[in-house]
Amino acid sequence: MSKHFEIIVGTMLGASEYVADAIAEKLDASGHTHTIHTEPNLDDIKTDATWIVCTSTHGAGELPDNIQEFAAQLKGAPLHTVNAFVIGLGDTSYDTFCFGAKEIEKHITDNGGTLLADALYIDVLEHPIPEDAAVEWFEGQLDHL
Ligand SMILES: Cc1cc2nc3c(=O)[nH]c(=O)nc-3n(C[C@H](O)[C@H](O)[C@H](O)COP(=O)(O)O)c2cc1C
Repeated sequence: MSKHFEIIVGTMLGASEYVADAIAEKLDASGHTHTIHTEPNLDDIKTDATWIVCTSTHGAGELPDNIQEFAAQLKGAPLHTVNAFVIGLGDTSYDTFCFGAKEIEKHITDNGGTLLADALYIDVLEHPIPEDAAVEWFEGQLDHL
């Protein structure tokens, strides 16, 4: 059955947007619909759709600038109808590996949302083309939807 996905991007340098675009292509090919949010605002994002959050981590374990406002909006928001996948991009040479993605997961679950799978944390040292790792993982998730 066709579903609608809200793809939410947190990026400083563009790598997470490539991941989002590759996931979007996969959704198209599978007959699903999507909206990509590169300046995410909770007011524009359906909470009865499935979310796919693709975000990197910058600074000392912080979310990218473009998704910080969205993260703040999640605090205290009623998210009990949200079903979400989270894909984090990070670098294991930081002891704050993928803390940005983990922060988003916490906001979603603290406010009643459901994670449809354990998050995927992609180490860009190991995966120089992170979208390949993301699509391979996501194909496995789509089979279970
Ligand atoms: C200044 C800087 C700080 C970073 N800090 C972290 C960090 O704290 N934790 C982490 O897992 N990755 C960290 N990274 C790695 C990025 O998350 C990684 O390069 C990612 O692929 C960037 O994705 P983007 O282009 O979508 O922003 C950092 C990268 C830079 C350049």
